[in-house]
Amino acid sequence: MTGLLDGKVALVTGAGHGIGRGHALELAKHGATVIVNDLGTTLTGEGTGKVADEVVQIIESRGGTAVPDFADVGDEEQVELAVERAYSQLGRLDIVVNNAGIVRDKAIWNMTVDDFDLVMRVHVRGSWLTSRAVVRKWRAAAKAGDGKVYGRIINTTSGAGLHGNFGQTNYSAAKSAIVGLTQTLSLELASIGATANVISPGGRTRMSASMPGAAAPIEPGERDDGEFDPKDPSLGSPVVAWLASPEAGHISGQVIRALGENLQLLKGWHPVATVSNGQQRWEADKLGAIMAIDVFGTRNTGLRLGG
Ligand SMILES: NC(=O)c1ccc[n+]([C@@H]2O[C@H](COP(=O)([O-])OP(=O)(O)OC[C@H]3O[C@@H](n4cnc5c(N)ncnc54)[C@H](O)[C@@H]3O)[C@@H](O)[C@H]2O)c1
Repeated sequence: MTGLLDGKVALVTGAGHGIGRGHALELAKHGATVIVNDLGTTLTGEGTGKVADEVVQIIESRGGTAVPDFADVGDEEQVELAVERAYSQLGRLDIVVNNAGIVRDKAIWNMTVDDFDLVMRVHVRGSWLTSRAVVRKWRAAAKAGDGKVYGRIINTTSGAGLHGNFGQTNYSAAKSAIVGLTQTLSLELASIGATANVISPGGRTRMSASMPGAAAPIEPGERDDGEFDPKDPSLGSPVVAWLASPEAGHISGQVIRALGENLQLLKGWHPVATVSNGQQRWEADKLGAIMAIDVFGTRNTGLRLGG
């Protein structure tokens, strides 16, 4: 225990397996009381289970404090109840880590509307529902007090959302949407002193192990040998704990990739080439050369005479 998160209460969604399990163990290690949320569903979102209990037991066996929660993050009523319970049973909720996720990978021509809707439901609606529930509490507390609260939301994107990935139009759309959701959240939370950031994690979980040719998943907490494994899904968890801590109160609206031993600050969607048509509408049939030379740089300019 380091005390970095002493006295804080954290909700980690999808903390039964993989990356979320790593976050739950890490937050507890730093003194937070952790609500280990997990629906206990399959990788593709079927069925339910009690895997959250297993993670609570690991945390308790290491001297930490945790409670299980089995809410489906896509269900409004269940999410509202989970947040209410945090306040009624634990007195507060300071940190929300939105991590729960499923995949239903198929090329778009084989993907069903259900595959699209369910993936969006868990990742986007789920992150939005938990955020709304906790932010309403924080706002009320800020209004009743000095206008500020302690609040940290950490959402989860993926390389697929940032760069695309074959067979994941549903998942990429969802993971990309989470970045927009978080950037707006960071603006809306600024006045009450709370933050919202995104991490882009990695590791060999049952999710990434479902990719063709991938090796078996590693579950955080399974082995305690201290050996560094670049595919350990919990390698991004220290930066989540730090973002959740008082030390990171000045960080909001950021995207941090945590892969293996590397932490990277990601910045996207800024203009890299601008052309202007001097207050006139562009003509589509004249754009070819301009786009090739001045925008994409795929054609040599040749000599430019006359300035
Ligand atoms: N594994 C990777 O390489 C990788 C890379 C980038 C991003 N991610 C993201 O990390 C997060 C965790 O993925 P993972 O690889 O650990 O997968 P995982 O399957 O090991 O864990 C996801 C957990 O979410 C739970 N879950 C699913 N639907 C839920 C719901 N409706 N309500 C509550 N819990 C639910 C599952 O039961 C499961 O325990 C996901 O958001 C994923 O998109 C993973």
